Amino acid sequence: MIKVYNKYPLLQHNTFGIEAVAERFVEFSSTEALVGFLKEGFTGNSLVIGGGSNLLFAGDFAGTVFHSRIMGIEVLDESGNDVLVRAGSGVNWDEFVGYCVEQGWHGLENLSLIPGEVGASAVQNVGAYGVEAGDLIVKVDAIKIDGASPCAFTNADCGFAYRHSIFKGAEKDKYIITHVTFRLKKDAAFKLSYGNLKEKVEELGGATLANVRAAVCEIRRAKLPDPAEIGSAGSFFMNPVVPAVVAAKLKEEYPTMPQYPLPDGNVKLSAGWMIEQCGWKERPAEHVGVYKHQALVVINRGGATGADVIAFAKDVVASVKERFGVGLNMEVNVIG
Ligand code: EPU
Repeated sequence: MIKVYNKYPLLQHNTFGIEAVAERFVEFSSTEALVGFLKEGFTGNSLVIGGGSNLLFAGDFAGTVFHSRIMGIEVLDESGNDVLVRAGSGVNWDEFVGYCVEQGWHGLENLSLIPGEVGASAVQNVGAYGVEAGDLIVKVDAIKIDGASPCAFTNADCGFAYRHSIFKGAEKDKYIITHVTFRLKKDAAFKLSYGNLKEKVEELGGATLANVRAAVCEIRRAKLPDPAEIGSAGSFFMNPVVPAVVAAKLKEEYPTMPQYPLPDGNVKLSAGWMIEQCGWKERPAEHVGVYKHQALVVINRGGATGADVIAFAKDVVASVKERFGVGLNMEVNVIG
């Protein structure tokens, strides 16, 4: 199946709840349908979206938006403790995680309730509670837009880093992901060291796949807005990484500042904490603000335009720079 729409409203396709229109919107339910469409001679700007949970439309999109409706989850191989599972790029991420947990496959449980779809998990290298999708992805199947040729990327090819991959970097907007394959385990140790996860899991009766998933969902529901109720794109900024000397100086001045030393010797700081310290949780704002339980999440209080959000974000960045001397980079993908 391929569906092509002209002048297509994107309001239902971005969790920020911003009104924007795509010149053309294309949905495809198979690799063959997508290849057929591209081979007819596709030209112009393209944008590939998943659940639209990491996007901010700064205006209308003058080009073609592609959205995968490729569904299905299949086991490619089972050997020993390993299960190789391939999911279509259009599969809802949390439904995929829920399915894997039900099957007793370990690996994705800490990534429960992240909004979005399977294809975008590889682009964005989604992460939470000490796990990143890139830790488990073994292969990404994609179609190169230019030439409609099928391509396969190994984990190393994808260049995964903190909230990053080649699909966001050097190869941005060049490929449409059709499937992602994950290596999961039938038996593995749980990763519970982040924040209060272990404590929550104990409260629920101890470490089982179902309890870890339930604990992660509970923590997320308490801290992050439900996209169905409040417009946002999750964390708006990335947590900044600074050299150890800079972190040590900041710690002297701000002893309660959360800091996370990284294996490479640098230190990750908490953008949410710094934004809160700058007073943004208290500041009344008309259309745009930060979420009361997590200052890293910029929210649309209703009727905000992309420009309103960008102007607000610039003020937030300037305040953090002035107070802490630290720059913040956006995590969301600004379009237009
Ligand atoms: N904090 C505050 N005030 C705030 C927000 C955070 O003081 O308003 C403090 C917390 O108390 C904690 C620290 O900052 O000490 C870190 O906060 P949290 O555990 O909520 O995580 P985060 O670093 O703010 C990151 C991810 C989230 C992910 C969580 C858990 C990024 C950009 N964000 O947030 O991912 O769920 O860790 O792993 O790395 C997303 O990417 O959209 C997202 C929600």
